[in-house]
Amino acid sequence: MKILSPKQAIVALDFDSFEEADFIINFLDPDKFRLKVGKQLFSSEGPKVLEKINKKGFEIFLDLKLHDIPNTVYKALINLLRHNVWMTNIHLLGGEEMIKAAAEAKNDSKSNTLLVGVTLLTSLNQNNLDNLGLNISISKLVETLSMVARENFIDGVVCSVEEVLSLKKNIGKDFITVTPGIRINEKSGDQSRVATLEEAVTNNSDFIVLGREITSSKDIPQMIKKIESYII
Ligand code: C5P
Repeated sequence: MKILSPKQAIVALDFDSFEEADFIINFLDPDKFRLKVGKQLFSSEGPKVLEKINKKGFEIFLDLKLHDIPNTVYKALINLLRHNVWMTNIHLLGGEEMIKAAAEAKNDSKSNTLLVGVTLLTSLNQNNLDNLGLNISISKLVETLSMVARENFIDGVVCSVEEVLSLKKNIGKDFITVTPGIRINEKSGDQSRVATLEEAVTNNSDFIVLGREITSSKDIPQMIKKIESYII
């Protein structure tokens, strides 16, 4: 089953140190995978970890999910975009002014880094929204946020596999979709809106984030080989 394009799968380096991440990096081919640095690794290693990963030939998705007042997001992005990062992100629930500030930072940095927006974390379900007093369906919320993102020159969104088809139809085929919450064998853990790798690809997800599916696997090299076998 050859269903994944090279570099369509992004491996989440959810570790506390570069040394731990490096154990997995050494099994990965930069022509086949991209890597994701999130809050866990970045908060312990700082920006120098980006250089170390770049040196190994990988493109990086810097997943810091910025969510703050517009001025702070603008300034943080100006700093982050000085690094060699392939993709980074903000939380779209930060509001339209914050989204505009993020797009402006990318523009002012003359950066080619892709800037995507988190719609609703895949760990949240409809019940969680209802309990927060948010009387809106997940699909409507995701679509509205994506629309605002597109209008403000954001390159795409992080969303669940369930939402990809309708976003491609209603927002645009070229609007990038990044889908975490992908499962190959494992149970869902703390993720609510999960899907299989095959569903993600069939629904036309552009990029697929694989975290614990690899990092918590009992036999990491074998799991990586299995995923590699899906790459065209
Ligand atoms: O596959 P797993 O559930 O372990 O992947 C989780 C990874 O995806 C984490 O790095 C988490 O931060 C990220 N994630 C995300 N956006 C979501 C849900 C999870 O970036 N909506």
